[in-house]
Amino acid sequence: MKFRRNQKVDNVLYRLHEDAKYDFVKVGAGVMKSIFRPVQPQDFEHAYLPISKEQGQSLHRLIIENKCKNIVEFGTSFGISTIYLANAVRQTGGKVITTELLESKAKMAAQNISEAGLKDYVDVRTGDAMKTLQGHTAPIDLLVLDGWKDLYLPLFKMLEPCFHSKSLIYADNMDMAGTKPYADYVLRNQNKFMTQSVDNGKAFITRMS
Ligand SMILES: C[S@@+](CC[C@H](N)C(=O)[O-])C[C@H]1O[C@@H](n2cnc3c(N)ncnc32)[C@H](O)[C@@H]1O
Repeated sequence: MKFRRNQKVDNVLYRLHEDAKYDFVKVGAGVMKSIFRPVQPQDFEHAYLPISKEQGQSLHRLIIENKCKNIVEFGTSFGISTIYLANAVRQTGGKVITTELLESKAKMAAQNISEAGLKDYVDVRTGDAMKTLQGHTAPIDLLVLDGWKDLYLPLFKMLEPCFHSKSLIYADNMDMAGTKPYADYVLRNQNKFMTQSVDNGKAFITRMS
């Protein structure tokens, strides 16, 4: 399958990646709020915290090469990663379920996805992923983990029954301490999973052994 470009998608991604360059200001403000109490997702309500363009393109290739159709994403934010995923499943004939805790972010993501011409390929769910994906029983070809790190492992375990022999799990932020429980689990269970570090150590791709 050949990589197909789309002008509408490129324009929206360009705008969003440009806007995300100001994340350092918004993240700084969020970090200040969390000096005297534990950090909360609301502290980063205005920050994208997105995957990079390179990661987006590598996810696109992964989906096309493996003909992934059924994609589940944890952590939508303003929809940058979702747009890469949806643009790829438009080619494979699939669909993306993505889930975002904060209503304001989920609404903005839906708007961005729509502007990119991809709304028919995405189901944006609002709320805690552990609830919005509870009871998900359909097979998952690709699971993308990019929400709060403490939920990587519980969510992975909750969705494990939906994996099949060709399922892929792409986990971002594997260079951060918070993802260690997830890393330990997939690396320890080598009888079940094969894991490789990709995107300069930023992410893990896990396959079934
Ligand atoms: C790193 S950002 C996602 C970035 C996005 N994947 C992208 O590349 O554009 C993480 C997002 O996960 C959301 N989040 C945190 N906890 C969540 C939960 N329990 N359920 C769903 N979303 C959650 C946060 O609000 C935040 O917007």
